[in-house]
Amino acid sequence: MASCSKWLAGLMLLAAALACSLPAASRAQLQVGFYNTSCPNAEALVRQAVVAAVANNSGLAAGLIRLHFHDCFVRGCDASVLIFSPNGTAERDAAPNNPSLRGFEVIDAAKAAVEAACPRTVSCADILAFAARDSVNLTGNSFYQVPAGRRDGNVSIDTDAFTLPGPNLTATQLVDGFKLRNLTAEEMVILSGSHTIGRSHCASFLFKNRERLANGTISPAYQALLEALCPPTTGQFTPITTAIDVSTPATLDNNYYKLLPLNLGLHFSDDQLIRNATLLPFVDAFAANETLWKEKFVAAMIKMGNIDVLTGARGEIRLNCSAVNPSSSSSARMIETIFPGAGGEVAAS
Ligand code: HEM
Ligand SMILES: *[C@@H]1O[C@H](CO)[C@@H](O)[C@H](O)[C@H]1NC(C)=O
Ligand SMILES: *[C@@H]1O[C@H](CO)[C@@H](O)[C@H](O)[C@H]1NC(C)=O
Ligand SMILES: *[C@@H]1O[C@H](CO)[C@@H](O)[C@H](O)[C@H]1NC(C)=O
Ligand SMILES: *[C@@H]1O[C@H](CO)[C@@H](O)[C@H](O)[C@H]1NC(C)=O
Ligand SMILES: *[C@@H]1O[C@H](CO)[C@@H](O)[C@H](O)[C@H]1NC(C)=O
Ligand SMILES: *[C@@H]1O[C@H](CO)[C@@H](O)[C@H](O)[C@H]1NC(C)=O
Ligand SMILES: *[C@@H]1O[C@H](CO)[C@@H](O)[C@H](O)[C@H]1NC(C)=O
Ligand SMILES: *[C@@H]1O[C@H](CO)[C@@H](O)[C@H](O)[C@H]1NC(C)=O
Ligand SMILES: *[C@@H]1O[C@H](CO)[C@@H](O)[C@H](O)[C@H]1NC(C)=O
Ligand SMILES: *[C@@H]1O[C@H](CO)[C@@H](O)[C@H](O)[C@H]1NC(C)=O
Ligand SMILES: *[C@@H]1O[C@H](CO)[C@@H](O)[C@H](O)[C@H]1NC(C)=O
Repeated sequence: MASCSKWLAGLMLLAAALACSLPAASRAQLQVGFYNTSCPNAEALVRQAVVAAVANNSGLAAGLIRLHFHDCFVRGCDASVLIFSPNGTAERDAAPNNPSLRGFEVIDAAKAAVEAACPRTVSCADILAFAARDSVNLTGNSFYQVPAGRRDGNVSIDTDAFTLPGPNLTATQLVDGFKLRNLTAEEMVILSGSHTIGRSHCASFLFKNRERLANGTISPAYQALLEALCPPTTGQFTPITTAIDVSTPATLDNNYYKLLPLNLGLHFSDDQLIRNATLLPFVDAFAANETLWKEKFVAAMIKMGNIDVLTGARGEIRLNCSAVNPSSSSSARMIETIFPGAGGEVAAS
């Protein structure tokens, strides 16, 4: 008994020492090649999962880019968007995410491959960031290195998702929402260019666009097409979707910016980018120079991927991207780290 409590005191000292090292560790920066030695195949395995999924359903590339965005804008890039709640009260259950978010199963497949290669090493938040990058690569022929080392959060609350920018927001509201996440007005315009791929559900545009039709800010022919596609009644969910970019819906190009001045922006929020004198010059510049937009787009994606990240000893490496680690398993792992071989049974021995 005496030696046991001495032993426990030692354990507590070690824990205290670990705790004292937290502040320094938590200031750690994300790094390109973070898994170079701990899991050298991590990025290749994620890419394989994304390539396979996109070959089967090309729309998943857009889904994965949006999944990373919706993760980063709520509680930072901590994979909180992936957490499943048995009672339907997680971020992913809220209207801005459900049922429109897609690609969860691709992240699960990537995680399974990565766990098999290097258990308990690669975070779900990093997998999301890699998968978004690979999706950009597959749809847009661009490539960028993803700084990594994010760790996963353990909180996901449905109401938080209502802080995501919605399709009815004005230019000023859009700019303010990005500013809250340290992104500039220009970066808002740059990242909105993601809408050059992907789809949208009727409820996201149809009713607001009736007001745009009255205002003369949407092409009447375009709205007529959308009216024909969608059921006319409000308030009823329909799974019907349309391409956000009517010209090249699966290619990450600068056509999004070319469509806006033609009154062919799908969402009110897209159209707002040309109705505001501060934002319009950015749209014009990206419509005129695709290379310029692509360069700025990858830089803005990297910046978005830095929002409120957990690093060092903060957060955890989730074992299942849909579920927070059981707290017993995380304490067992800490004991395992301190006394290799002791496992989770140490307290009972
Ligand atoms: C500027 C504020 C933004 C607003 C108001 C907005 C709004 C929307 C809406 C309403 C949809 C359609 C959802 C649906 O009904 O299915 C959508 C789709 C999409 N958004 Fe945004 N978005 C914004 C910014 C962004 C950013 C920053 C990114 C990525 C960096 C992004 C990437 C996408 C993608 C790829 C899709 C298509 C998703 C799919 O096909 O599954 N959006 N967005
Ligand atoms: C990982 O390796 C790449 C390529 O050699 C290098 O550029 C990068 O700095 C390395 N990152 C780390 C964290 O070691
Ligand atoms: C391919 O897509 C179909 C439906 O879109 C899905 O049921 C199936 O599981 C997918 N297969 C793979 C290997 O992802
Ligand atoms: C919903 O589930 C979460 C766990 O995912 C739990 O913490 C919470 O108390 C539950 N809420 C209700 C209202 O049952
Ligand atoms: C796509 O990514 C691969 C690396 O995974 C890179 O070699 C290739 O150059 C990228 N494509 C383009 C057009 O940049
Ligand atoms: C979630 O993480 C915080 C901070 O790391 C920790 O204090 C808390 O105990 C964790 N909660 C659960 C349910 O694991
Ligand atoms: C345009 O957007 C800027 C930046 O948010 C804002 O300050 C300005 O008031 C907006 N202009 C109009 C006319 O709404
Ligand atoms: C934005 O920047 C400020 C100042 O550098 C920092 O305190 C804050 O945490 C940042 N917020 C986000 C969401 O990154
Ligand atoms: C946007 O506005 C339209 C019409 O005013 C409304 O029917 C729709 O529910 C709103 N959508 C959102 C996401 O707020
Ligand atoms: C219609 O125009 C009015 C007045 O310019 C403006 O306040 C309103 O936001 C516009 N609505 C839409 C949906 O464009
Ligand atoms: C387009 O942008 C690229 C990248 O910034 C730049 O190098 C190039 O000169 C621009 N092209 C034109 C025609 O302005
Ligand atoms: C991961 O967690 C989810 C949500 O609890 C569960 O439905 C799923 O079966 C788990 N997956 C694995 C491989 O354990």
